[in-house]
Amino acid sequence: MEELVLYAKFHFFAEESMMINSGYPDSESHMKEHARVLSTFEKKIDEYFSNAETGEALIVFIFEWLVLHTLDVDKKLAAHLHSHRLLGGF
Ligand SMILES: [Fe+2]
Repeated sequence: MEELVLYAKFHFFAEESMMINSGYPDSESHMKEHARVLSTFEKKIDEYFSNAETGEALIVFIFEWLVLHTLDVDKKLAAHLHSHRLLGGF
């Protein structure tokens, strides 16, 4: 589970670097979303390990994050980067 949190942090850091370097206009709200997702993710993991949350609920959250964040918020960033010719494939 720690590896997944580290992966999320690395992924978010990489995106945030691209947002800053490209002058992405929605960077503030996107970064707030990253912080919210990480905070919720870490809370869900703590709840899971303290038996206050089921493994199924944790998996549902991870799936929702993957679907909702990457297919909505990240898609807008990818479009911005493509339009500025800063990204070949995302
Ligand atoms: Fe993102």
